[in-house]
Amino acid sequence: MAGPADLENLPGVGPATAEKLKENGYESYQGIAVASPAELSNTADVGESTAHDIIQAAREAADIGGFETGSQVLQRRERIGKLEWLIPEVDEMLGGGVETQSITEVYGEFGAGKSQITHQLSVNVQLPPEQGGLGGSVIFIDSEDTFRPERIEEMLFGLEDDVLQAAMDQREIEGSIDDEEARDELLQSFLDKIHVAKAFNSNHQILLAEKAQEIASEYEDSEFPVRLLCVDSLTAHFRAEYVGRGELANRQQKLNKHLHDLDRVGNLYNAAVVVTNQVQSNPDAFFGDPTKPIGGNILGHKSTFRMYLRKSKGNKRIVKLVDAPNLPDGEAVMRVTGEGLKPE
Ligand code: GTP
Ligand code: MG
Repeated sequence: MAGPADLENLPGVGPATAEKLKENGYESYQGIAVASPAELSNTADVGESTAHDIIQAAREAADIGGFETGSQVLQRRERIGKLEWLIPEVDEMLGGGVETQSITEVYGEFGAGKSQITHQLSVNVQLPPEQGGLGGSVIFIDSEDTFRPERIEEMLFGLEDDVLQAAMDQREIEGSIDDEEARDELLQSFLDKIHVAKAFNSNHQILLAEKAQEIASEYEDSEFPVRLLCVDSLTAHFRAEYVGRGELANRQQKLNKHLHDLDRVGNLYNAAVVVTNQVQSNPDAFFGDPTKPIGGNILGHKSTFRMYLRKSKGNKRIVKLVDAPNLPDGEAVMRVTGEGLKPE
């Protein structure tokens, strides 16, 4: 993979242009390869035709062409990882877990447990594959100020003892899981692998998704490459800022661009992208059917896996797979407990 220093190998890229590209998040050949000439020409202060040549060269270097053969598609798909919820009923329904290289949308009303899912997956993804994880780190875009390290701690120590032990071995932490110092070290290590950024408004959120690509690139060859990108909530800012029918098209366009950026990170870096979307229990004319997530068709096309979360009795939640490629729709039950998400 191309590191930052290699950018000057591209035609028309000198030290100054390379610097500008890096400053704007174009740190790898892959990132440049999928940029548009106009985008690149703006950020790097080069003419569009130069930008075009740069992109072309980056595509060759990164081996990102247009078309792939069937066997190339198969090869890429063979890298797809499955991130387990560690809830057998849910994982089975998902065909093994949340897939990398895809967007998974989790929607449901307030208090349904959407944020709990993003927290639990931020723990699980770090586990070794034998324990259901992907041995990866996390980028967490937090638009509602919901991220809580304390909750990560509860969920981490809510895992089975043998899973915890495996996580300690994986990180070469000495001692036993009953040893306070070792537990502290383990927690620290888990928290350090979650890169959290608060999004203050929708434009900021869009920028953070672009920034996510930089982080993913930075960690690509590390021990814990980014394998999960969470956006909780995907839609809250957009919904608050683009109010009224006249704004609908605008909102969709922005959301679409944002989803495109998220998708790009998932595909280029083999990460699972999990986004949450609140639906209202109290329907109004604007948002229509309460069981339909906002974002309409565009979100519908982009999120390849859609899961609807519904409150049931007490801490029980119904997880419904609404839309997924090659998988039948289905329902599973889980519980939200102090120690995290657990089977019924
Ligand atoms: P909105 O963000 O408001 O749309 O809701 P959400 O779908 O993100 O809900 P969230 O994931 O915050 O789940 C909230 C529910 O999870 C609460 O109603 C509680 O039942 C449960 N919950 C949240 N935190 C804890 C916790 O620390 N311990 C326990 N036992 N349950 C919790
Ligand atoms: Mg939430």
